[in-house]
Amino acid sequence: MRFYTSSHISTKVNQRTISTSRSTMASRLSLFVLLVASCSVAMASDPSPLQDFCVAAPKNRVLVNGEVCKDPNLVRADDFFFRGLHVMGDTSNVVGSNVTIVTVAELPGLNTFGISMTRIDFAPWGINPPHTHPRATEMLTVLEGSIEVGFVTSNPENRLITKGLHKGDVFVFPQGLVHFQRNVGNGYAVAIAALSSQNPGAITIANAVFGSNVDINVDILAKAFQVEKNVVYQIQSKF
Ligand SMILES: *[C@@H]1O[C@H](CO)[C@@H](O)[C@H](O)[C@H]1NC(C)=O
Repeated sequence: MRFYTSSHISTKVNQRTISTSRSTMASRLSLFVLLVASCSVAMASDPSPLQDFCVAAPKNRVLVNGEVCKDPNLVRADDFFFRGLHVMGDTSNVVGSNVTIVTVAELPGLNTFGISMTRIDFAPWGINPPHTHPRATEMLTVLEGSIEVGFVTSNPENRLITKGLHKGDVFVFPQGLVHFQRNVGNGYAVAIAALSSQNPGAITIANAVFGSNVDINVDILAKAFQVEKNVVYQIQSKF
């Protein structure tokens, strides 16, 4: 809905820009750029609900941006309910962590509410490898243990913002930025994270770049990472 409103405004500004003299063109153009920029910001958030709730009915085959609503008369308390976040995920994998997600797919009542939750378990010295959430800001709190966290700002600074967290500490990872966590203790660590989307998405950098289906051409990755091709083949073989 917001998308259509914003693009309508942008088109009108664009038409006016064409019909004005060159002297005012630059200022009109920067206004246009500003509008386009704010338009993309609006599009990055989940749409606001227009009714009390819209419980997801994922079996319906109509394709919409989100999920179609279940008949409100058929909605039950269980549609707003998820059980099991007390259960520890299995961390016996190469990275030593496990993310249990509670998004609209697990909790249909989240549909249109722009929020979700995860539990992250860490084995001793386990990591949650560098990844991004394309649609959500993440707010993490440590329930048990000590965790080193960090995110990297976008180009050209690529500044690392990092901190050591202890039980009860809260840290926020800005939407879309590459971030990671590491358990810096000899015991297990647990964190809960809230995310500002019903469907935040997760892009693990290594899996996306070296484990895509099908592989990205080795010449591209060798040049991008400034390494020999066999280094690329070696990393690709692990993802
Ligand atoms: C995370 O834990 C669950 C529950 O133990 C398990 O089914 C799943 O395979 C684990 N995922 C990874 C990536 O180890």
